[in-house]
Amino acid sequence: MNAWKDYQSQNKDRFLNELLDLLRIPSVSADSKYKGDVARCAEAVKDSLLKAGADKAEIIPTPGHPIVYGEKITDPSKPTVLVYGHYDVQPPDPLELWASGPFEPVIKDGRIYARGACDDKGQMFMHVKAFEVMAKTGELPCNVKFMIEGEEEVGSSNLGKFLEDHKEMLKADIVLVSDTSMISMEHPSIESGLRGLAYMEVEVTGPNRDLHSGVYGGAVQNPINALCKMIASLHDENNHITIPGFYDKVQELRDEEKKNLNAAPFNQKEYNEELGIGEEWGEKGYSNLERTGTRPTLDCNGIWGGYTGEGAKTVLPGKAFAKISMRLVPNQVSDEISDMFKKHFESMAPKGVTVKVTAHHGGEPVVTPTDSVAYQAAAKAIQTTFGKDPIPTRGGGSIPIVALFERTLGLKTVLLGFGLDSDNIHSPNEKFDIANYEKGIETIPYFHKYFAEMSV
Ligand code: BES
Ligand code: MN
Ligand code: MN
Repeated sequence: MNAWKDYQSQNKDRFLNELLDLLRIPSVSADSKYKGDVARCAEAVKDSLLKAGADKAEIIPTPGHPIVYGEKITDPSKPTVLVYGHYDVQPPDPLELWASGPFEPVIKDGRIYARGACDDKGQMFMHVKAFEVMAKTGELPCNVKFMIEGEEEVGSSNLGKFLEDHKEMLKADIVLVSDTSMISMEHPSIESGLRGLAYMEVEVTGPNRDLHSGVYGGAVQNPINALCKMIASLHDENNHITIPGFYDKVQELRDEEKKNLNAAPFNQKEYNEELGIGEEWGEKGYSNLERTGTRPTLDCNGIWGGYTGEGAKTVLPGKAFAKISMRLVPNQVSDEISDMFKKHFESMAPKGVTVKVTAHHGGEPVVTPTDSVAYQAAAKAIQTTFGKDPIPTRGGGSIPIVALFERTLGLKTVLLGFGLDSDNIHSPNEKFDIANYEKGIETIPYFHKYFAEMSV
């Protein structure tokens, strides 16, 4: 479609500058001090939808951060694509590790550096610009609805109810999401699954106050020592997770599935070098791609207690804490896994301490079909703009709302991601390659075109 191509190349610089403006708004959902900025970002997204050609766009408040909804319905007989994305971002910490300000986007070597550049402002905004390309150059192949939320990075806790309450408004034929990664520009891929999540916080309490570690040390259980031992015991010598029942519902891949998954290009040596690790680690008997795409995991995300300031303070702390997450795979249920963890962890409490476990947000795993019309349309769109068939992969990350789209709205999702694993999402120096941003804007209209053609 030359009109699409021409419009995009004529507006290329503006498309980039508009994204940079969006990246300047520090829409950190986790930290209440940014509440005003999050609201301002929702406004900016709403305005961008209207400018791009939406018939209507509105900001819908929730008990947390607002949801932006917009639509352009041209013909009820055409299929409807519901675009989901999020305008909130992760906190930028640790700030001292950024080469430039997280909310002062800079371009270096063809890459946009800023918090949210890839996850998910850059990828979400590709859809706004692709929509503009379609809307301003003629007819849209599909009706388009946008639901852009501001609480993805804090667990989308108000979005489930929003789906329940707006079933009619959100009626569609498919959900289209760009919030995942592909292997590389040379090896485009489409994720056909996401892991679920169970996120726990634990508190270990020992003596009723911090103690002098000389006066009392050796005679009182140290909560940090106890916590470390408990966490260490959650993996066995084969790096299997030791919580009773944890693997009960996990299915092994069929040989054919295993073969396909491992056919994706992957170089363990380059992977290790890129991460600065001497050697890989993981569950015995599984490859890297199986470990991240198809196996459940348990990781400590943070641990604290006692004295962590400058110098040395001799103290036997009264309390120790940790945040522990588990990534889940099909058939595991987030609440069930949370309960198993709680029961097991509390039962492990050694003498002299008490253990309290609370659950944070969670989410269910999903596998998206690769034999559907929507997947075929996405594959054909990639084939058109990359000149290569995409490789189906399994993503290791989580987007909990995807399972709810299916459960609440009966909708399947296509994960048309243009990020790279090396984009540093959730890390300092997050980036998004301009080439990926532009390729996304180029590819998305073809998804709409092929989805409309193949749906009849
Ligand atoms: N976009 C990510 C998820 C993702 C990243 C999926 C890369 C596949 C590849 C999303 O914003 C995210 O970070 N999700 C959180 C879960 C959420 C409940 C905080 C995650 O995966 O940790
Ligand atoms: Mn995201
Ligand atoms: Mn994220």
